[in-house]
Amino acid sequence: MILEKWSSDDKFRLNALCNSIDRSFLSDRIPYPYTDRDAEAWLSMVSELDGKEAIFRAIKLDGRIIGNISVEKKADIYRLDGEIGYFLLDEYKGQGIMTEAVSQICELAFSELDICRITGLVFAENAASARVLEKNGFKPEGMMKQAVIKNGIIHDLLIFGRLKTM
Ligand SMILES: CC(C)(COP(=O)(O)OP(=O)(O)OC[C@H]1O[C@@H](n2cnc3c(N)ncnc32)[C@H](O)[C@@H]1OP(=O)(O)O)[C@@H](O)C(=O)NCCC(=O)NCCS
Repeated sequence: MILEKWSSDDKFRLNALCNSIDRSFLSDRIPYPYTDRDAEAWLSMVSELDGKEAIFRAIKLDGRIIGNISVEKKADIYRLDGEIGYFLLDEYKGQGIMTEAVSQICELAFSELDICRITGLVFAENAASARVLEKNGFKPEGMMKQAVIKNGIIHDLLIFGRLKTM
């Protein structure tokens, strides 16, 4: 598994990826169905912000893009905090891939972005994602009750944090 910068040539691969992922625990920011225009707009945002306000990387295995991972700086008084997000195609789950991807992006984000912590917000039911963060030194910091609504159902959200100086 390697992390690679997204390029404007990845439009069709990004489109295929975003139309194939399990979105049960993802933000609705990723439209569905995902169109070429959605891919173009996202890749343009990535090229503008990457390395300044955020780190975005494609997760690649044997030359195929199989997922995405990012750390995005927050704004205002929260600006020293970066929020991590990630997803992987179903057929690659359970092989330790996201654990390694999180390890690599945290290192990149702490060295390239002006942040002192990374926050992970996880649906309370998403035990695999919580485990991935814990394996990377993230500590559970609490739970926001009834914090998100997805497909008409309200969920609790777990808060995880990892400090630059652990
Ligand atoms: C959650 C997700 C990122 C995990 O990626 P992955 O590559 O399968 O994760 P890894 O294989 O590195 O590690 C998964 C860990 O969770 C554990 N796990 C998996 N399912 C679990 C469950 N239902 N309950 C408890 N632990 C579970 C695995 O055993 C493993 O831990 P271990 O190494 O201690 O055995 C991936 O399933 C995914 O992309 N899901 C859809 C999108 C998503 O949920 N994104 C996160 C939003 S916060």
